[in-house]
Amino acid sequence: MTPATPGAPRTRPRTAVAAAIALAAALALGGCSSQEADGKPELKVSGAFMPKPVGDMAAGFLTIGNSGGAADKLTSVTSPLSDDVQIHEVKDQKMRRATSFEIPANGELRLERGGSHIMFMDIKREPKQGDKVAVELHFERSGPITVDLPVEAAGHNPAHR
Ligand code: CU
Repeated sequence: MTPATPGAPRTRPRTAVAAAIALAAALALGGCSSQEADGKPELKVSGAFMPKPVGDMAAGFLTIGNSGGAADKLTSVTSPLSDDVQIHEVKDQKMRRATSFEIPANGELRLERGGSHIMFMDIKREPKQGDKVAVELHFERSGPITVDLPVEAAGHNPAHR
C-alpha cells in the first residue's frame, strides 16, 4: 500500500491514516445499514393448529416466519388452557424440553409433527374439534404475539407447502 521509500518519510503515516479512515467509514456504513434498514426481526405466524388432545396433554404446531434482517428467539408460550406450557424439541425420536428456538433472519421456525412443538401439560379442559385455543408467544426481541390455534382432528397433519 505504502511505498517504503526512505526519502519520503511523511507519506507512510498519511496513507495509513487515510486507509484507517476509509476502513472505519466502511465498517460504520455496514453497521448502519444492518441496524437501521433491516436489523429488526419481523415475525408472522401461520399454519397454527392443535390436534384434538387425547388425555391431559396437548400439542400445538405453527410456523413463525421472519422477514426481518435480524434473528429472534421463541423463548416461551403461555395459554389459558394450561399453567405449564413448554416448548419441546425432538432428539432421537424422544421429545425433551427446550429453552428457546431460533428464528433465523429472513427465515422461519417450523413447529411441526415429528419435530419441535408446543406442549401443553395438565390441560384444564379438553378442547373439541372446531374450538380455538389462544396462546401467547414470547420472544427474545419482538413483542408478544397472540394466536388462536384451531383444534383439528387428532391425526391432522397439513401437507408441507
Ligand atoms: Cu412434547
